[in-house]
Amino acid sequence: MNIIKVKTNEELSAKASVIIASQVLKNKKSVLGFATGSTPELTYKNLIKMYQDGILDFSSITSFNLDEYCGLEKTNDQSYYYFMMEKLFNHINIKPENINIPDGTSKDVNAECASYESKIKQAGGIDLQILGIGLNGHIGFNEPGKELIYETHQEILTESTLKANARFFKSMDEVPKTAISMGIGTIMSARSILLLGSPGKEDIINATISGVITPEVPASLLRLHSNVTVIYVCS
Ligand code: F6R
Repeated sequence: MNIIKVKTNEELSAKASVIIASQVLKNKKSVLGFATGSTPELTYKNLIKMYQDGILDFSSITSFNLDEYCGLEKTNDQSYYYFMMEKLFNHINIKPENINIPDGTSKDVNAECASYESKIKQAGGIDLQILGIGLNGHIGFNEPGKELIYETHQEILTESTLKANARFFKSMDEVPKTAISMGIGTIMSARSILLLGSPGKEDIINATISGVITPEVPASLLRLHSNVTVIYVCS
């Protein structure tokens, strides 16, 4: 693993956006895997700035998001679709038909998961997957436990994740209990991975990069991948 320790979220975001930008510059037809959440917000702002400054062109890239809550419409301001449009896609020249986010309102969730997985394969796989990390070590919504699921699937969110996500909702009852998430195998199949640890994630990043490799810390599996960069804020 290539491990970069930084002091601030600004530094994390500056470095992360340069890594994403160099992937887009290296291959304008890159397939990028995006995450939502607080962690990548400033990184996405930096990418928008690079687009506005004429440095980056997203017109030929394809995107796949890691996950989406089950039951939330695209128009719900807490859906990950809404987040991605607001925080990035509405402000760059990515083609709408090249944007892929699981449909959390699909009546047949299993069919939606299978179709998402095959779309990723048809696109030739993901060149660079961006990841945040949960306080419990989840990546995407692959929650800690005895077993991890390989492909895109419906995941039941743990108590720790529900609590962490509650900050975005009016009440705990409104927090979706399940989500569609890329599986651990989907993530590990990306050709390169960028894991970002925002302030407060230092302990779980340390467990990821130097503890045992275990499904109890899903991010620790990333140590089995040959091209992972970890950028994290440490005190
Ligand atoms: C989001 C995702 C999650 C988040 C993680 C950290 O698409 O897959 O794994 O990356 O929960 O969330 P934040 O960045 O809000 O701390």
